[in-house]
Amino acid sequence: MLGYTLLPLFLLGLLSPNLFHLVSSQGTVPPELFSPLTPQKVLATYKASPSLQWPQYTDGSGRWLFFPPRTWTSGFFPATLYALNTRRQLCGATDANQLGIADWVALGRANSRGLPLDAGGIGHDVGFISFPFVEELVVNPQNQTAKASINSLASALAARFDGKVGCTRSWDSSDPTDFQVIIDNMMNLEVLFVSADLTGNQDLKKIAISHALTTMNNHVRPDGSSWHVVEYNQTTGKVIRKRTAQGYSDNSTWARGQAWGIYGFANMHRLTGNPDFLSTSRRMANYFLDHLPQDGVVPWDFQAPLTPAPRPADSSAAALVSNALLLLAQQETDPGAKKQWTDAAIRILNSITRLAWKPQWQSLLSNGTVNWPANNYLTGIVYGDYYYIKAANELIKNNIVTCEGQWTSSRILGVFDVHS
Ligand SMILES: *[C@@H]1O[C@H](CO)[C@@H](O)[C@H](O)[C@H]1NC(C)=O
Ligand SMILES: *[C@@H]1O[C@H](CO)[C@@H](O)[C@H](O)[C@H]1NC(C)=O
Ligand SMILES: *[C@@H]1O[C@H](CO)[C@@H](O)[C@H](O)[C@H]1NC(C)=O
Ligand SMILES: *[C@@H]1O[C@H](CO)[C@@H](O)[C@H](O)[C@H]1NC(C)=O
Repeated sequence: MLGYTLLPLFLLGLLSPNLFHLVSSQGTVPPELFSPLTPQKVLATYKASPSLQWPQYTDGSGRWLFFPPRTWTSGFFPATLYALNTRRQLCGATDANQLGIADWVALGRANSRGLPLDAGGIGHDVGFISFPFVEELVVNPQNQTAKASINSLASALAARFDGKVGCTRSWDSSDPTDFQVIIDNMMNLEVLFVSADLTGNQDLKKIAISHALTTMNNHVRPDGSSWHVVEYNQTTGKVIRKRTAQGYSDNSTWARGQAWGIYGFANMHRLTGNPDFLSTSRRMANYFLDHLPQDGVVPWDFQAPLTPAPRPADSSAAALVSNALLLLAQQETDPGAKKQWTDAAIRILNSITRLAWKPQWQSLLSNGTVNWPANNYLTGIVYGDYYYIKAANELIKNNIVTCEGQWTSSRILGVFDVHS
């Protein structure tokens, strides 16, 4: 890491006359990513949260709606509080950034109390619920409550595994032999690795790897796009149906599902080193980027009709895929590949910020599509805001931008930090 960061710093002095040219030729990072409004809004949302309810999405004028614990999204807001602690650790607290207005760890801990620790009502989404507990262990690796919570959530996911199908069951259905798996489930495998490391139970990793390999074979199409839902017959282990639930049509590609896949397979590569997971993430990323419209705004589904305009965006898919591309960039060893994925992430962040950054809303972003077939869109979304905050954290951690949103010297010279 030192070789990559110190050399450009030294060269920068020699190149300073060209600095503005270099910066402008690289575009900019949206300054909103570092806005003081972010900690201010998150703190206000924390204070407005009713006891044992968590924000999920907003109404059409940007006011949060709150949901009971057994909702798949309950872990995202406490994880957001921890993400602001991470930002504060990276950047310090200043008047300008407003990161000092709360003790984010204390709020994250308080907001994690009452989260469900089994799969009842949330199915495979136990993985999302584990996020704040995993963050807690970064802050306090000895916290027994957080460890027990992670192990409980991982056992709940592992109990949904079927060896014949090779996957963990995502959704329950009235016919138990109808075994439904959704691409989103790729995001929930990490908790199995975290728990395996805590307990020494290597079977948990085997379950995660089996799920990812089976999903790679059945959810991802030859062109790198993806089905949302694959149904297996639990008795025979065979695929019986491929369809959509939240997409435009069975054969279309729902953008958020595609983004979950890019992230999930890049993460599986990080956790296992299996090159097939890396190539799957790349193929899915190429499909995503090749199907983006000119303006870089992520549509809710790539095959959704363009008319009547505008085709609704999904800002949550945009924020999520930015993180997925940054994670993919970290998995690459080739500097050109790192730069390609990072540039794409920054371009998408710029587009979504121009469209959806809403100072007057309670959420950071508007233009989220929760569920278009259910007529739930044009909202803020808690995981959209979470991934928007996390994207900026990753850009800072990876030495691409400063805490003020300026390119770092290594970025200006096109030399990326290669640590992860
Ligand atoms: C440990 O983690 C739990 C769950 O996140 C939290 O409620 C608790 O406050 C933490 N305790 C300590 C001592 O850090
Ligand atoms: C699965 O296969 C078994 C045996 O052929 C059959 O009885 C059952 O109805 C099938 N279930 C589904 C959901 O197709
Ligand atoms: C949709 O996908 C199914 C399953 O692969 C295929 O049989 C069908 O022909 C496709 N339909 C269209 C309109 O592409
Ligand atoms: C974005 O949201 C605004 C309302 O906040 C809406 O008028 C506009 O059509 C949306 N654009 C897209 C591309 O979704």
